[in-house]
This record gives sequence, structure tokens and C-alpha cells, in this order.
Amino acid sequence: MKKNMSDYRPATRAVRAGQVRSSENEHSEPIYTTSSFVFESSAQAAARFSLEEEGNIYSRFTNPTVRVFEERLAALEGAESCVGTGSGMAAMLATCMAGLKAGDHVVSSRSIFGANQSLLKGLMGNFGVQTTFVNLVDLDAWRDAIQANTKMVFFETPTNPLMEIGDIAAISDIAHSANPDIKVVVDNCFCTPILQQPLSLGADVVLHSATKFIDGQGRCVGGAVVGDQEFVGEKIVSFMRTAGPSMSPFNAWVFAKGLETLPLRMNQACDNTMKIAEALANVPQVERIYYPGLESHGQYDLARSQQSRGGAVVSFEIKGGKEAAWKLIDQTDLLSITANLGDTRTTITHPYTTTHARWTDEDKAAAGITTGLVRIAVGLEDPLDVFDDLNFA
Ligand SMILES: Cc1ncc(COP(=O)(O)O)c(C=O)c1O
Repeated sequence: MKKNMSDYRPATRAVRAGQVRSSENEHSEPIYTTSSFVFESSAQAAARFSLEEEGNIYSRFTNPTVRVFEERLAALEGAESCVGTGSGMAAMLATCMAGLKAGDHVVSSRSIFGANQSLLKGLMGNFGVQTTFVNLVDLDAWRDAIQANTKMVFFETPTNPLMEIGDIAAISDIAHSANPDIKVVVDNCFCTPILQQPLSLGADVVLHSATKFIDGQGRCVGGAVVGDQEFVGEKIVSFMRTAGPSMSPFNAWVFAKGLETLPLRMNQACDNTMKIAEALANVPQVERIYYPGLESHGQYDLARSQQSRGGAVVSFEIKGGKEAAWKLIDQTDLLSITANLGDTRTTITHPYTTTHARWTDEDKAAAGITTGLVRIAVGLEDPLDVFDDLNFA
């Protein structure tokens, strides 16, 4: 019996959704490396350009390999529509450009990826869009910040690097009760749809940096906007056609293949991270651990209610500040000193002097990003080897 893709379970959707076999009957998806597509006649070209007839025109608009990735990710997020973009930042830019205009207002969590903060504060500010930044976990602050001209609410959960949890259902409810037209936008990069589906909790739009877990092997830069047909399928698509920060077919192929193994990789990475977090809890030099999979996490119950596992990133504070943190990082041999995450290879970073280096000392202090903080994005090596490599003797 033929079923709809939405009738299948996530692991099946991850492998099967979006594939359309060509006349060659290939088993694995081909990569359509073509800039444009050929028409059978002038009349067909005219019909395609006027959008009377559906079909490919030019790869800035649509491309069959990109479509496979988009449909597969939409199936996993439980969404009507998905648009692949050239990077995670291009996904954020597309969302802002498609959803906002001069005079509009945004309420955003303060704890967001640095470039997203610069985009909202700087770039969007230059175009007359104002943003109020609030404490992610303070629901009254979200309520108080919403204005008559608020059009978008934005946050990521869990946050980087302190693993704070934003209550997706509560923040969506606050925004939609104030004005049903406000778009609640959630960056789901850290959890991926395997652990958390923000749309099912009330959000309107999900953003991804496919660069991270979706690729899963640190090869390509890409992103995606996921949501309903009206906003994503029309407004985002229209912005992409005009402005062009599109995903390349090769990258789309890597990401589509990445989605096939995402459930396996995420679950293994979560198992590994949990083991490392539990081991860190017994290390005298470690003052505090930030991992939502541990019961000691201040928002453990909320995390459990909206994400199925703790995720693959753990941060901890080591006694002795920057000197101790740098020493620990520099003594590692196996771990990669790099700020990327979501790779098969475990990465280690010092947020204070890398990802958050441009923040003022006051902002870092207010956010809890201390000089002794170390972030590990756990990969697929044996977790015992990863822990041993930290050399805590
Ligand atoms: C949470 C989060 N959102 C968005 C981005 C931006 O993604 P990209 O680097 O693919 O543009 C990143 C990148 O590190 C990220 O960590």
C-alpha cells in the first residue's frame, strides 16, 4: 500500500523523503550541476517565466538536487515548505528580508549566535528595523518587550555555549497572544529535527545552519528556512530569486546524504556527550557543567519536555580562569581546536576569546561567559578517548 511520506517514522523520512528518480533509475540521488534548464519551445519558456507552468528555469530559483534536500528536511521538521540557502546566516538574512520592513520591531534573545546579533543590531538597524534583546529564560521580559509594531521574535535553544533552554511553547504563546501575525523564528541548529521540532511546539519558522550536524562531517557551508507555504514557500522563495543567496547543488547533495544518517549520528553523539558530561561531574578542577541532559541542569525538566535528548555540546567552567582553560585546550592531542561543531570529530573551543571575543567584558559577565569556560562539541570518536584527551590528571 502506498503511504504518504508523513505517515512514515522520522528515520524512514530521513532516508527516503524528497527523492525523485530520473529516467536513469539511479538508486542514489544524482547531482544536477547545471546553472540553467532547457525549454522545449519559446511558449514553454514564456509559461515558465510567467510562473503559469511549474518547472526549473535557473538554479538560483530551483534545482532538483537542492529540492531533494529541501523536501527531506521539511519532512523531518513536519513542515509544508523548506528553502535551502548558501549558509546559516543566509537563512537568517532571508527570513529578516522577507518578513520585515523599515519601522518594524524584533524581539530577540540576547543569547544568540554572534553574527545573528550583528545582523539584527547592525544590518537590520541600518534599514530601520529595531531589535530589543531580552533574557531568553525571562518570560516576563519577552511579554514586556513586544510592541504594536513587533513582527518577529527570535531565539535559539539550547544556546551556545551555556546551553540555556528557551521555552518554545511559552514564548510562541506570548508572541501569538499579543499578535497572531508575529513570526516566531527558532534557530534549531543545536538540536536538529531529530531531537526537537519547534513547529510542533508553536513556532512559525525554523532556521538551520546545515554546516553543523546536517552535514555532520565539516565539509560544506549551507542553511535552510523551514515553515509554511505562505511565508517560506512564497515570501522566502521570492526573496531568494531576487537576491540569490542560494545553496549549491553539490552542497545540497552532501546535506541530503547527511540527513539520511542524521538520526544515527545525533543519537550516538548524544550518548557520547552524556558519558563525557557525567565524567566531567567527577573532575575536581571542573567548577560547573552546562549540559541539558544532566539532571543538575537548572532547566532539566523544560529541556526534557521539548527536546528528546541533551544534544552533542557540553560546556564547563574550569578553575583557574583563562590560563587553566587555554592550558587544558592546548594540551589536547586528539581534539580539534576549532569553533565549528556538529562534526564526527570532537572540537574544543574557548568561547571568551573566540566565538564571543567581540562581546564587551560586561556583556560576557552578564551572560555568564567566563574566562574559565570551555566548550566541547562532541563527535563520534570513542567518548573514553575524548575524555582521556582532556588530561585532567
Ligand atoms: C546556532 C547557530 N546559528 C547560525 C549559525 C550560522 O551558520 P553558518 O555558519 O552556516 O552561516 C551558526 C554558526 O556557527 C550557529 O552556531
